[in-house]
Formats: sequence, structure tokens, C-alpha cells
Amino acid sequence: MVPDSGPRVLLGVSGGIAAYKAADLVRRLRERGCVVRVVMTEAATAFVSPLTFQALSGAPVRISLLDPAAEAGMGHIELARWAQRILFAPATADLIARLAAGLADDLPTTLALATRAPLYLAPAMNQQMWLHPATQDNLERLRARGARILGPAQGSQACGDLGPGRMLEPIEIATALLADLLPDAVNPPPSTAAAGPLAGVRTMVTAGPTREPLDPVRFLGNRSSGQMGYALAAALAQLGAEVCLISGPTALPGPAGVTRVDVETAAQMHAAVFERIGTIDLFVAAAAVADYRPAAPAERKIKKETAELTLQLIRNPDILAEVAALPHPPFTVGFAAETDQVEAHALAKLSGKGLDLIAANQVGGDQGGFERAENALICLWREGRRVLPMMPKTRLAGELAQLITERYLA
Ligand code: C5P
Repeated sequence: MVPDSGPRVLLGVSGGIAAYKAADLVRRLRERGCVVRVVMTEAATAFVSPLTFQALSGAPVRISLLDPAAEAGMGHIELARWAQRILFAPATADLIARLAAGLADDLPTTLALATRAPLYLAPAMNQQMWLHPATQDNLERLRARGARILGPAQGSQACGDLGPGRMLEPIEIATALLADLLPDAVNPPPSTAAAGPLAGVRTMVTAGPTREPLDPVRFLGNRSSGQMGYALAAALAQLGAEVCLISGPTALPGPAGVTRVDVETAAQMHAAVFERIGTIDLFVAAAAVADYRPAAPAERKIKKETAELTLQLIRNPDILAEVAALPHPPFTVGFAAETDQVEAHALAKLSGKGLDLIAANQVGGDQGGFERAENALICLWREGRRVLPMMPKTRLAGELAQLITERYLA
């Protein structure tokens, strides 16, 4: 039985080797509370059996447009209306071309035409096919019509090539889709948000990891997915705030109604924040900023010539502490990810950095945190505390945004 509440995602699987990863994607989406129905192209069935998707989604899988028995159940127009999001993963070069041309020569492409739901594509193909101008033109046409393109990633391919064209990992695709679904899945629609409690409040959120270059091809990074910061930016926007999101590299699309500025290094994040901080009322630092960076990144790729290699690292500026120390600081909210003595360390950070509010969570072990869809927070301010128990990050972001609003307006 398929549960009937939760974001309704129609997953279209097309015929590429990455189709096997779509099976895991169904699980990842369902773990996050989505109701998933799967349609496949004929070619996709050569890679994965429809039965696999039926078992994982808990619903019948449709392949043919001209199937009288299936049409007697949920007909294709009904299915197109049912979907809140249509996600094609993997999206092959052929499917992308047919979608761009507006063809309706099989069930998945017909559904894409018959729906008003936003379209998401996770491309997967050989790197030469990806780079071909025909594919790039088709993607541009789809983008111009509002489709979101998730990925692809770079790397080694099933065909032995190296380059762009690998499908993003299922968890990255599910996270990107969910971050975007937050506004209508968790919060009130934007029409009511404009008049929300944070109307007119100029807000800045930092999110995601930073990358500190070692040489032109390597960097020091961390495991932050950006999920929490993005969900928080979306939730604050839904409460009426004007939100500027300063983001390190993530696979997530920018939430609706949020201005996004992309950066890579801590120094770039620092510059992007301080360029705008004079006009900000509320500052939320959710980014996992590298504390140190290589002192002298090499101009050329470092060769493996010696048995040992010592890296010299130097401190990065603490963006949050510097913002809180401004003569007229905005209301500042920080995060503390701790492996032990969570509350004690968070309290020390609250007063040490001079923050208005801190949200602390335990990382490591089985406790949520990085690369997890769930998390729990202990929120502390000078006069009080509130525990937000373990829940999906999108809901947690909504609750934290409520608390930030209360404390900001207090
Ligand atoms: O001191 P610690 O790094 O644990 O503090 C975490 C908090 O500080 C987070 O809110 C993070 O976004 C922020 N931070 C920052 N700049 C840094 C390091 C951390 O804004 N260089």
C-alpha cells in the first residue's frame, strides 16, 4: 500500500545504465516521506525490471501509454495531475532531446507534457554525448522552460570514459528535490508568506561546505551537504523574510524566492558576507566553514615525488564571530556541531562569539548531523533553551525558523 500523504513524486526512468541507481533513489525519496510512483521507458526495462520499482515504490509501475488495464486504474492524465514533481532519473540524451522537442511518443514524455508539475532531470550519459552541442542546446531549451537540471557529476563512466555525465548519487538527487519541495510541502504558500512575521526583515544565511584549494585540482573540504542551511533559507523566506543565501558548493538548487550567491572558499564566503552585511537585520551562519586553509596553494598539480608531504595550514577568519563583533551587529544565529558535551560547548560558543542564538547538534555516531536527512537540535540563548527532537531536516528547519522569528521579535 502506498501512503497517500507526503510530497507526490512521479519518477520517470529512462534507458541508461544508471537506471539501477534509480531503484535506490525510490528508497531515498520514500525515506524522506515522499509518495513515489514510477513510469519507465521501454528501454529502461532492459536495465531494471519494473517489478523492482513496484516493490520499492509500493505501487504499480507503468510503461505503456496504450495499456487499457492501466488506463482503467489511474489514467495517464490523472497521473500527470497527481504529480507534484516529475523527476527523470536517469535522463538519457535521447529522453532530453524528446522532452526538449515536446514529443509525446511514449508514456514518460506524454506525462511531462500533460502536467503542470515542475520538471527535474538528473542526466546520465557518456561524456561525449553530454558535451555535444545538440544535448547542451536541448538542456538550454528545457532550462528556459523552468526545468531544473541536477548534475551530472564528473568522474569515471560505465563505458570507461572519464568526464562529465555520471548521474548524481540518489541521496544528492533526493536532497535537491526535497529542499525545493519544502515551500509547498512544509510551509504555507508564498501568497501568505509576504505578510508573514518576518516581512521586510533582510536576512542572510550561509550554507554548505567550503573548499580550500591545495593545487588547481585538489581541495580540503568537508561533509556538509548544505541541506539544513538551504531548508532554513526556504523556511525564513516563507515567513516573509528577504533572504540572501551565501552558498558553498552543493548539489542543491536555490530555494524559491531566495537570492543565492555561490562561493567556494572561506575567504570568498567572508568577502561575500561582508560586502552585504551593512544592510542585514538577521544573520544565520549554517555553513561548515573550513577553520584552516593551505598556506600556499600550489600553482601546478602537486606531483607524488616524495614519500611524505607536509601541508602548512593557516587560520581562516571566523565569519560569524566577526559579524557578531560589528559595532551594530544584526541578530546573529550560529550552529555548533559537537561530538561530546554538546550543551556545554554550545553555551561557551554562544557567549564566546557573542551570539543571540545558537543551535547545537551532536555529530558522529548515530545521531544525525552531516549527510543525514534527520537531525535534532538543542537551541540556546542567554535566557533560555528549547530542544527540537529528532525529525527530518526540512521540518526541523521550519521549527528553527519559528524559534528564530520568536527570538528576533522578542
Ligand atoms: O567555532 P565553530 O566553527 O564550531 O562555530 C560554528 C559556527 O560558526 C557555525 O555557525 C559556522 O557557520 C560559523 N563559522 C563561521 N566562520 C568560520 C567558522 C565557523 O561563520 N570560519
